[in-house]
Amino acid sequence: MDNKRRSFIAGTALAGVAATGGVISLVGMKKAWDPLPSVLTAGFTTVDLSVAKTGVLYTTQWRGKPIFILKKDEEMGINKTRDVIINSNAYNITIGLCTHLGCIPSYVSAKQQFKCACHGGEFDSSGIQTFGPPPRPLDIPPFKINGNSIVIGEEGKEYKNLIGKA
Ligand code: FES
Repeated sequence: MDNKRRSFIAGTALAGVAATGGVISLVGMKKAWDPLPSVLTAGFTTVDLSVAKTGVLYTTQWRGKPIFILKKDEEMGINKTRDVIINSNAYNITIGLCTHLGCIPSYVSAKQQFKCACHGGEFDSSGIQTFGPPPRPLDIPPFKINGNSIVIGEEGKEYKNLIGKA
């Protein structure tokens, strides 16, 4: 074998080792990004719904994200694919981040809609986009119903029904 051919083969073998090393370090990074089990189990927010008033937006936080909870009545229009019934009352529960670029929309109770000031996006009271650049409805956080409380961060059967995972 001549010297040129030998060095080409050696170079190819090194490139193979480098590529393998890249894959291994990516796997290492993926593990580092995953939340610890303790963080997952601690990541719940419980909200008592007994004081909620119809048409008033309540905001809480879950894992650093704003969570919108809106108690609704028939007049506001109940969307069975987006709103959940808890003890005969309808609630809309969403992550309060605009699905365009992540601004926090505000709720305009007179119009019963969420408005995003960043680029004019609008959502109805069920969180469905009705105007502007948002590409999809407001996201629904995982939740579980516990009596008259809602636990944000846990996937209960009502959440699975809403998002079609049941
Ligand atoms: Fe809400 Fe652009 S971030 S419309």
